[in-house]
Order: sequence, then C-alpha cells, then structure tokens
Amino acid sequence: MRSFAGRDILSLKDFERNEFFRVFEIAEMLEPIARNRQNTDLLKEKTLVTAFYQPSTRTRLAHEAAMIRLGGQVTGFSDAKMTRAGDFYQESIKDTVKMLEFYGDVIVMRHFQQGAPHEAAKWASVPIINGGDGWGEHPTQILTDLYTVLREKGRIDGLKWVAVGDMRMRTMHSLGYALTQFDCPITFVAPPGMEMPESYQQDYRDYGLDFKFAEHVEQVIGDADVILVEPTVQPDYTKSRDERKGELPTTPDNYKITRDLLVNKAKSDAILLHSLPRMDEIPPDVDITRWSRYWQEAFNGVVMRMALLALVLGAVE
Ligand code: CP
Repeated sequence: MRSFAGRDILSLKDFERNEFFRVFEIAEMLEPIARNRQNTDLLKEKTLVTAFYQPSTRTRLAHEAAMIRLGGQVTGFSDAKMTRAGDFYQESIKDTVKMLEFYGDVIVMRHFQQGAPHEAAKWASVPIINGGDGWGEHPTQILTDLYTVLREKGRIDGLKWVAVGDMRMRTMHSLGYALTQFDCPITFVAPPGMEMPESYQQDYRDYGLDFKFAEHVEQVIGDADVILVEPTVQPDYTKSRDERKGELPTTPDNYKITRDLLVNKAKSDAILLHSLPRMDEIPPDVDITRWSRYWQEAFNGVVMRMALLALVLGAVE
C-alpha cells in the first residue's frame, strides 16, 4: 500500500480498496477520542490551514475540530473576499498556496473552480486535502459516508445503494469512484438535466461499477440497503457564493424521501444518509425514524478528518 504520509487527498478515483480500509481502521482507532470529547497531543507540533473560497459549515469546522481533538493548531480563512485572492488582485492559486505552505503543515481547500485543489497540490510542499471543488469531487465527505455505512451495517461489500438527487453534485462523483472498489451495485435517481455526467459514467464503466438509473425513488427504494440523498434544489457550485433569491422550487416526489415512503417501501434495516445541508428533500419528521443516520454522519465527519490528518501528517503509518 502507498504511504499516506505527505499525500494529497484530491479525488477518490485513485484510492485503492486496501487504502479505504486503512483509513477506516485509523478512524476506528481514533474514534474514542471524539466520542469521549477528549483532546490528545498526537499532532501537537502541527498546524492545519483552512483555505475556503466557498461557504461551509461541516467540512471546514469538522477539519478544524479534528485538528483540535488531535492537539494541533488551526489557521486560515473562510471568506476569500477578505484575502488578496478575493479583492482587486485576484491572487492566483499558485501565489496563494506558495504563502500558505509556510503557515502550516497541511492545507484543506474548498473552491468554486473544479480542479483548484489539484492546481494547489502542484505548487504546495505540504499535503492538500480537497474540501469540495466546484462540481468536481468531495472525497472527505464520501470517506465519511462509507465509514458511517461500515459502522452502522458492519460491512460495505454486498450492500445495494440508491443515490437520489443532483448527479452534478461533487459528492455523487466521489461516491461512484469509491464504490468501484467494493461489491456495491448502485442506482442513480436524478431529475432531467441533473444526470450523472457522461465522463464520470465512462470512468465507472472502465472501473467495473455496477450502476443503473431510475426515474422515481419509489421504484427502487425497496431494494436499497443504503439510501444516499442530496438536494435537487441547489446553489450554483461554480460560484464563490450564491445568495438565495425569490421563490424557490420544491423537490418533486421522485427525489424526496418521506416518512411514509420509508415506512411503506424501504427495507426495515436500510440506512438513510445525507451529507447536509438539506432543502425539502428529507422533511424533518424523517429525523426521528430508525432509517436516518445523518447525525451519525456528522459525528463521523470529525472522526474521518482526524484519521486523514493523522495519516497525511505521518503521525500514523
Ligand atoms: N456536506 C458538506 O460539505 O457540508 P458543508 O458545505 O457545510 O461543508
């Protein structure tokens, strides 16, 4: 297995099966620290730099919380408008990371341009973690989701997935890549105009993913062990910020998970994931059903980032 020390985490396309399991093993080892709300000194000599060019609640704060749990320091920005990248100068990714690499030992970057973290990784002497790039990928979120499945179901292989929502979404692309490494058939359910882009479909075919499409979640939910949902009412992920304006559409029934649908159609032991934030695709009365696992995902999001930081900073091999 390749070492994680010093490695960039940019995409799940290049993640091997045994590397997933190594990350999950480290996450499980570190999980008691977060569960017991303790801090340790595993990364006490290290600093995380957060470079967020797009809004985030979970990804940035989970990385920061993970670093603090492991005894490290945190610096960075959550609004590029307050940096030279977001003002008159429009400072380039190259020039920005050639500064940031001296302010810390690992950089987590979210950007509205697909490929921006990859560009940063070309120039930085420290590892770059992709915290979501435009419509590209969101590898740490899907590592979190797979870890949640492992913890909740005790296995990943042999489970059937249904993914519902906008397939242009970066999480969906990382999910497809991740599932190529497991025995997990998946059905994608997306509105017209939000289908999985052909370039990702071609990659999935090349890597042997067993995938198909359905029009209505009702047609396929009964077969699913894992139901992963993203909104269809979305901001434009290619913008640094997309303010809500005017009346918003509601989510059509085809892409909505209601309590009634779960009770009447879903497997009794299926689990429901959503990386959040949500719109109306999962109404709040679903939260208190036995299918929902998104709060567990939130906890696991910290644990997963602890594992990734410990691995890329070489604190564990
Ligand atoms: N799931 C996710 O990426 O959430 P944030 O946009 O809040 O980071």
